Amino acid sequence: MAEMAIQVRDLVKSYPRGVRALDGLSFVVPEGTLFGLLGPNGAGKSTAVRILSTLARADSGQALVAGYDVVRQATEVRRRIGLVGQRLSAVPTATVRENVLLQGRMFGLKGRALATRTDEVLSMLALSDVAGRQAGFCSGGMKRRVDIAMGIVHRPRVLYLDEPTTGLDPDIRVQLWSDLTALVRQEGITILLTTHYLEEADALANDIAIIDSGRIVTTGSPETLKQKLRGDTLQVEFESDQSEEAIRGALAGLDGLDEIRVDGRRLHARAPIGGAAVPVVLARLGQEAMAVRSVSVSQPTLDDVYLAYTGRRFATQADAGASAGGQSS
Ligand SMILES: Nc1ncnc2c1ncn2[C@@H]1O[C@H](COP(=O)(O)OP(=O)(O)OP(=O)(O)O)[C@@H](O)[C@H]1O
Ligand SMILES: [Mg+2]
Repeated sequence: MAEMAIQVRDLVKSYPRGVRALDGLSFVVPEGTLFGLLGPNGAGKSTAVRILSTLARADSGQALVAGYDVVRQATEVRRRIGLVGQRLSAVPTATVRENVLLQGRMFGLKGRALATRTDEVLSMLALSDVAGRQAGFCSGGMKRRVDIAMGIVHRPRVLYLDEPTTGLDPDIRVQLWSDLTALVRQEGITILLTTHYLEEADALANDIAIIDSGRIVTTGSPETLKQKLRGDTLQVEFESDQSEEAIRGALAGLDGLDEIRVDGRRLHARAPIGGAAVPVVLARLGQEAMAVRSVSVSQPTLDDVYLAYTGRRFATQADAGASAGGQSS
């Protein structure tokens, strides 16, 4: 069995005024993998990261990082982790290189070793060309990469990235994804990344845990999670609104067709093999003279997984959380 870089068991954390941010959180992360903690606003992701980086203490439960207990062996843990928090951490008036040097020095690197390692991480994160620029004058994507360079200069075994791509342009986000994948490969580092972007977890993570209200609702590789939802999603758009009853009548008794929902002029259903169901479904609808505008078949997404486990759509949840968060802070 692979060594576990992170082992979390039954973490509970309540904040004053009764918010139970973590409610029995458990998961494990094998060494040298990228683990995605995926959840909407307020799910407890940052709270978990703070506890795993020894910045906060759980009320109960246990967490081991690189084999050390985050409470009893906090110093050992701190030496082996890097943290890139939700907020930018570089000193804006110092240059990109100075920021990385300073961070390396805080972890005991010096002299030639520090200079060499600094240049190495700057090149790894494509920052060599802007090394002399003040961090404050860097673009959003560059600043994030400076944060990551600062997070890895001391060669941590485990790197936490708390929503590293929030607020970045889509193309810069994709660039950062490939930087992170390269990091795992080149440095053999274990990354725990939190995100509320489903496609980010899907693109990057070896394993994902979906967190909701301080608990893991499901965990596994993106592929296994999607396979748990058997079959494909079939969507049919009609030329005009149809009655649900008429559609159900037309499709009655079709083998394997499941979860039929009708929404105005759209029909959603699940079928074991979408492509095979299309001609049969179209034939039945044709018999009833229901004019079809388009048909599509898609494989389940992580959003479908989230819906299946929580009964809510991820996107609307995250949006609601984001606007609520905006008002309170
Ligand atoms: N210092 C605090 N005092 C009181 N409540 C807190 C504190 N920090 C977090 N909470 C609450 O704990 C819950 C979990 O918060 P947390 O920041 O861990 O969520 P998150 O998953 O990181 O969300 P986001 O995606 O918005 O960053 C939320 O309900 C939040 O309001
Ligand atoms: Mg957070």
